[in-house]
Amino acid sequence: ADEGMWLPYLLGQQTYNDMVKKGLKLTKEQLYSINKASLKDAIVIFGGGCTGEIVSSEGLIFTNHHCGYGAIAAASSVEHNYLKNGFYAKNKQEEIPSGSLSVQFLVRVEDVTAPMQESLKGLSGTERVQKEQQAYEGIITKAISGTGYEAKVVPMFKGNQYLLFVYERYKDIRLVGTPPESVGKFGGDTDNWEWPRHTGDFSVFRVYAGKDGKPAPYAADNVPLKPKHFLPVSIKGVKENDYAMIFGYPGSTNRYETSFGIKLKTEVDNPSLVNLRDVRLKAMMEQMLKDPAVKLQLASSYASIANYWKFFDGETKQLKEHHVLEEKERNEAAFAKWAQDKPEFANILSDYAAAYKAWSPYAKSRIYLTEGILGSQLTAFASSLMGVEKALVTPGAAKNAAAQAVAAADKARTTFLSEENKPSDQKILAATARMYYNDVPKDQQPAGFFDALKNKFGSLDDENTWKLWAAAVMNNTIILDDAKWKAFVANPDAVTLQNDPAFAYASTFVKNYVGKYQPLYTQFQLKTNDLGRAYLKGVMQMQPTGNRYPDANFTMRVSYGQVKSYAPRDAVYYDYATTMKGVLEKYVPGDYEFDLPANYADLYKQKDFGQYKDAKRNDVVVGFITTNDITGGNSGSPVINANGELIGLAFDGNYEALSHKIQFDAAFNRTICVDVRYVLWCIEKLGGAKNIINELKLVK
Ligand code: ARG
Repeated sequence: ADEGMWLPYLLGQQTYNDMVKKGLKLTKEQLYSINKASLKDAIVIFGGGCTGEIVSSEGLIFTNHHCGYGAIAAASSVEHNYLKNGFYAKNKQEEIPSGSLSVQFLVRVEDVTAPMQESLKGLSGTERVQKEQQAYEGIITKAISGTGYEAKVVPMFKGNQYLLFVYERYKDIRLVGTPPESVGKFGGDTDNWEWPRHTGDFSVFRVYAGKDGKPAPYAADNVPLKPKHFLPVSIKGVKENDYAMIFGYPGSTNRYETSFGIKLKTEVDNPSLVNLRDVRLKAMMEQMLKDPAVKLQLASSYASIANYWKFFDGETKQLKEHHVLEEKERNEAAFAKWAQDKPEFANILSDYAAAYKAWSPYAKSRIYLTEGILGSQLTAFASSLMGVEKALVTPGAAKNAAAQAVAAADKARTTFLSEENKPSDQKILAATARMYYNDVPKDQQPAGFFDALKNKFGSLDDENTWKLWAAAVMNNTIILDDAKWKAFVANPDAVTLQNDPAFAYASTFVKNYVGKYQPLYTQFQLKTNDLGRAYLKGVMQMQPTGNRYPDANFTMRVSYGQVKSYAPRDAVYYDYATTMKGVLEKYVPGDYEFDLPANYADLYKQKDFGQYKDAKRNDVVVGFITTNDITGGNSGSPVINANGELIGLAFDGNYEALSHKIQFDAAFNRTICVDVRYVLWCIEKLGGAKNIINELKLVK
């Protein structure tokens, strides 16, 4: 049973016994306890969507390079380019505060299903969603009052169970170290989501607390956090079939997705998103390659757009490759048979079919708005001014409401400008408008907009028309003109805004969608929400089992499996580990994705591997793979051996199993990890930061 993202808080005896059978040497209490320090106390939510782990008694954190990426880019300038050249603090004074970054420790979990179900009895649709929010608030307020903690109630099994999670958030997080990007993102997007992999995907941070050990906003004299627990680091190395356990925060899976959902995803949603992101990425890359300042400016947003561009493309391919649709259809046929004489469940699948039939014709409109029209930074910012317009035109609205909206927009514009790269954005504006015109059904497009564009700029079949239009928008909008913007802020009026070409464009398309299609989408979501809960309830009755895990939803999970090689296709065999030899095989001097730091090849030739050498391979192991069940959000998660020691950091999934959000494939699914010995080699030998190594508790 490699499949499963288990709640450590509710670890069933059967699951725990299986862990022990596979090699685990720890007690249940050592994994999760609220009374004593346990493994869970060393695991944090890192930033908004990653995992990190505490590895020293002074609050040192390991996470992925791609999780620290935004903070590293933000700390960098063209002169002090830590993203490019790497960085290691030689002492605590050199550590770099990282703005809004925070980490959260899990304090406790509580099952609140009974009070939730009491509040929600008999409700569905909008009423249920509203009541659900109210009930959450009530439970949270009670849970955290007087504590300084934060809390969340999260539905499990699509609302058949509810759990309360209480967190403690620390906000003074400092950058301690990072390898150069050529190591931390070695292989770039070419190697992303693929094995064999040679990426040193790690970075190092530290949690600071007030003198009382409690969370405190950044202050120079805050002190390193004394954690309840930290992970010792094993440098003994891994071998095939070794036990491997991953604690962390998987973001989302939908393992009970229906055949209807898979069809919409593979036929419309995924391909639309991929096509639109493709042009956005090309436009951004062209400018990033030209100018190191633009590279720093766009690096983080480029990386996140690219990551899921490749993911969704691969997901479609692998869903087909593994015939997931057919399997879902078989399961649904079995369900239909079981449900036919049960009124509570008999109509679920036909209701699903009807809901998808009602929404599908408009699905493109949604993706082309969010990923296309609003894929331009300028348009996205312009659309945010719709609140200003509203405040300005509302009859009898208080004057200060408009003034407040304008002041907020003025502030937001500063942030927008710091992220805006005009040459790439102008291309994105032209290309996405054109794609919308060509691909979205004509009767769903805002009336008159494209006719007017044609009258002013020329034939819509001619690419140049779109370029001329985009240039005119860029050149004439007040948003990009400091003097005109200042005048507007000093004297805001709705007409100026409405006549602005960027605002007019953004608001026309947003209003078109919000007015005509968003209500349909909301209805679709409410309906499938109710159906999903009922379907899963039925499935659980049809196939009762003592150990079923809920879908990922960014709550703490533990997954267990083994280090294991695999065969991706006929006659091809993938070993479970990669080495520095392979890094040098891929090395292309000066390449955007496969370059290396200047001293890397020399260090390799000297074979100065120190205590990080893998005896069997006479090399340093860079990455290894396991059978663990993880997904996005687990990035940065500790890979832990049978004794509770850190052996690696999970950072990716493999291409052959990109269908993993919807179905776990035991033969193909692998988690890609950076070996902790490579992490330490990079820190000590490549980075010269022995001070960091000295802080760890090494198990040799
Ligand atoms: N695919 C990884 C994940 O979502 C992120 C990898 C980041 N690296 C990159 N080359 N974009 O977990």
